[in-house]
Amino acid sequence: MKIEGQPALVTGAASGMGEATARLLTSLGANVSLLDIDEAKIQWTADQIGALALPCDVTQAGSMEDAIAKAESVNGVARILVNCAGIAPAKRIVGRDGAMPLEEFKRVIDVNLIGTFNAIRVMAAALRNEAPLDEAGERGVIVNVASVSAFEGQIGQAAYSSSKGAIVALTIQAARELSSAGIRVMTIAPGLIATPMLFGMPDEVQRSLANQVPFPKRLGSPDEFAQLVKHILENQLLNGEVIRLDGAIRMQPR
Ligand SMILES: NC(=O)c1ccc[n+]([C@@H]2O[C@H](COP(=O)([O-])OP(=O)(O)OC[C@H]3O[C@@H](n4cnc5c(N)ncnc54)[C@H](O)[C@@H]3O)[C@@H](O)[C@H]2O)c1
Repeated sequence: MKIEGQPALVTGAASGMGEATARLLTSLGANVSLLDIDEAKIQWTADQIGALALPCDVTQAGSMEDAIAKAESVNGVARILVNCAGIAPAKRIVGRDGAMPLEEFKRVIDVNLIGTFNAIRVMAAALRNEAPLDEAGERGVIVNVASVSAFEGQIGQAAYSSSKGAIVALTIQAARELSSAGIRVMTIAPGLIATPMLFGMPDEVQRSLANQVPFPKRLGSPDEFAQLVKHILENQLLNGEVIRLDGAIRMQPR
């Protein structure tokens, strides 16, 4: 897909990888709508890069439908969706205080998995009625974000790993279902990326995690993630697959 001129939606665009992706796509000439629950921050980012800010809680059907309808009325039907909204609270299944509260597990599934599905369903429903962009019949591309935790999570990541594992499982399923509409579906599984999500961890934990990366021995940058999104959008043969972006890290049990 040629990115220039395409209407695009980026969830979780107020911060980290979503913000970097929104910046890169805007700089490449896409008409980007930033969807995030943090209203003040997306407005600030959108004003900076010249994009559209749309407050949205990805867990809510109506909130997603309203945001995507508003994006469509300004920029046209989205051809690109990048699903970056996510949360990563750590908690053991059974900790010092007893069993993990069920609501906390459900909340992570709700934001990470159901939020991703919510955006996919609304975006794809609008896009399937649009004209294809090329002779192959491509109409659009969806990029989801899982995590290496989908494959080897760490202690305290039961909810997070479960949500990301489900996004991995959804990838080929959605790619097959949406192939008749010419919509490709890909997922990126990042390792350790320097974003506010990771900065929430103590410095010592961040250093020790960075040391576990075989090469390069550092945290990844949100821009490296955005560059992979760009490549996926442009490379039509990529479909239904999960790409690790992790410097060969394989997370240790603790
Ligand atoms: N940073 C890492 O090392 C890392 C590694 C692997 C995967 N990931 C995943 O990458 C994605 C982006 O993470 P990041 O590191 O950029 O984090 P981040 O915390 O910087 O950004 C996440 C964004 O999601 C938004 N968000 C949270 N709940 C929302 C909701 N209900 N509705 C709408 N927006 C909501 C937040 O406001 C925030 O702007 C997440 O899915 C995360 O799980 C991050």
